[in-house]
Amino acid sequence: MRIGILSDIHVDLNGGQPVIEALLATIHRRGVETMVIAGDVSSDYRLTLESLDQLQERSGLPLLFVPGNHDIWNEAHPDITAWQAYEALERFPGNLSRGPQEIADGWTIIGDLGWYDYSFGGAQYSREDFDRMQFGERIWQDRIKANWDRHTLEMHRTFYEKLDTQLEKITSAKGSGSDNHKLILVTHVLPRKEFTVQRPDPEWIYLNAFLGSPEYGELALAYGVRYSICGHVHYRKQATVKGTRFICNCLGYSDEWRWSRDPIIEIDRAFLTVDLD
Ligand SMILES: [Fe+2]
Repeated sequence: MRIGILSDIHVDLNGGQPVIEALLATIHRRGVETMVIAGDVSSDYRLTLESLDQLQERSGLPLLFVPGNHDIWNEAHPDITAWQAYEALERFPGNLSRGPQEIADGWTIIGDLGWYDYSFGGAQYSREDFDRMQFGERIWQDRIKANWDRHTLEMHRTFYEKLDTQLEKITSAKGSGSDNHKLILVTHVLPRKEFTVQRPDPEWIYLNAFLGSPEYGELALAYGVRYSICGHVHYRKQATVKGTRFICNCLGYSDEWRWSRDPIIEIDRAFLTVDLD
């Protein structure tokens, strides 16, 4: 079973349809059997749904997805809450926020957006500093556009507990021994500190607070998850810790593309496949 992994395709910000065409071409060329997108398809839940529908229909493959923070933003719909966008996205059958899915050969894939708990931010800042979500003139856009009805730390706790409950249920049903549970965990946010922005830059020492939580990585290790996939930071990095392969594989914004401004070339270079045993 070959899975394809690419997140943060940001269709709206990266030129629209050519990104979809390039992704479809790469999916076919690489012999992918199931595609995984770890969030940030676009900044409008309706465009995200249209893009996912098109990718699934035209690829003819199972497409699995977790929402990213951009997917639940209300920028294009000031009247709706993040919860309304999050629930609307559950119309897509491959949205893992609906619940875990069995894929081939005994593998189960579990996932959700996840949120952040400030742990990755610099220790010199207080919770109140992070609650402001502002460094100098720069406002972290979730403060304005991710319109949840609860505090940031509660959002993290909500997602963490949902994933923990699902992992507990699956592993107890399959019996002990990590050979019995072939698990993949997908979050949009980062599960590991080494995937945060490692520049000695005061702005990022602060902004790393909004990238994820080490608790998602601890969940992956505690349940013997084989692959833990994330997005959000627009990096392409991997790390293996105690038998868990952590993968962050983002396309990112076109002005961040490493190889080319042509989506056909950049997506082909950025695309990652994993062969599950
Ligand atoms: Fe993104």
